[in-house]
Amino acid sequence: MTRRLYRGDPLTQGEREEFEDDLIAFCDRELDLLGEIGGLDVLYAGGSSPLWIEGLSQRIGEDGTLTAIDLDEDRIAQDSLKEADLAAPVRLLAADVFSIPFSRGTFDLVYSSGLFHELDVREKGAEDALAALRSVVRPGGRVATDDFVDSEPAIQLEDEGLEAELIREAYGRDLYGIGPPERLVALHEELLACVRWRLSPPRRIRHLEKLVLAEKEPAEFSSLPDATARRLRERRESLRGRILREGYTRPATLYVEGLVEGA
Ligand SMILES: C[S@@+](CC[C@H](N)C(=O)[O-])C[C@H]1O[C@@H](n2cnc3c(N)ncnc32)[C@H](O)[C@@H]1O
Repeated sequence: MTRRLYRGDPLTQGEREEFEDDLIAFCDRELDLLGEIGGLDVLYAGGSSPLWIEGLSQRIGEDGTLTAIDLDEDRIAQDSLKEADLAAPVRLLAADVFSIPFSRGTFDLVYSSGLFHELDVREKGAEDALAALRSVVRPGGRVATDDFVDSEPAIQLEDEGLEAELIREAYGRDLYGIGPPERLVALHEELLACVRWRLSPPRRIRHLEKLVLAEKEPAEFSSLPDATARRLRERRESLRGRILREGYTRPATLYVEGLVEGA
């Protein structure tokens, strides 16, 4: 009989281990692009997952500090890190990158991974978010961001597009979304010096398709006007058909970093 990690988990124990191994490998590949960050005071902006925080904290070590902020208070559960193997001390805060709660020049490095495509740019643009991140870096320090880009076809791009449309219809938010690498590079070149970037190929996460297919229909569907809900349901069904046939292919990622020049 198949052993499952916990009731309702669509993955067997072996599949769950392979899934987690691939997530860790993906996270390590992206974090390694930061190079040497030992002893730095680092802000991780727009993220709170234990995997990324642990990876950052271990690379920073006990001579530095890590502060992580996320807009979503539910993701900042104080006990979320209780099993994490941390080296640098970690502070988790609920905060918005558009009104960042730190003084100018507090950090040596600000890093984000997967933040930009989820930014709500209805009132302020992605350049305002990057300017806010830059403002809390010391002169000579770095801002580095990592995000998905649409340079390679991927089913996840269609999934993220559907999610963005649902968010627009249900909450009136307008997400920056996943675009071409050039858009993010140009954004960084506007505000930072010595910009360099690296495009990395899609990285497969084994069994991710099983987890996506096991997800329930989003609760928001039931509060949308009938015609909108019908259209989004049809898109969701067609996407699920593609995932069954092709698996859950993932996008390429773009790492961009630049220097904050002296005042
Ligand atoms: C794709 S997830 C990032 C995953 C990330 N690698 C992690 O460690 O959790 C994007 C995150 O950005 C956060 N976010 C979106 N807009 C934000 C904002 N204006 N300020 C701070 N966090 C924001 C979301 O709450 C979400 O947790």
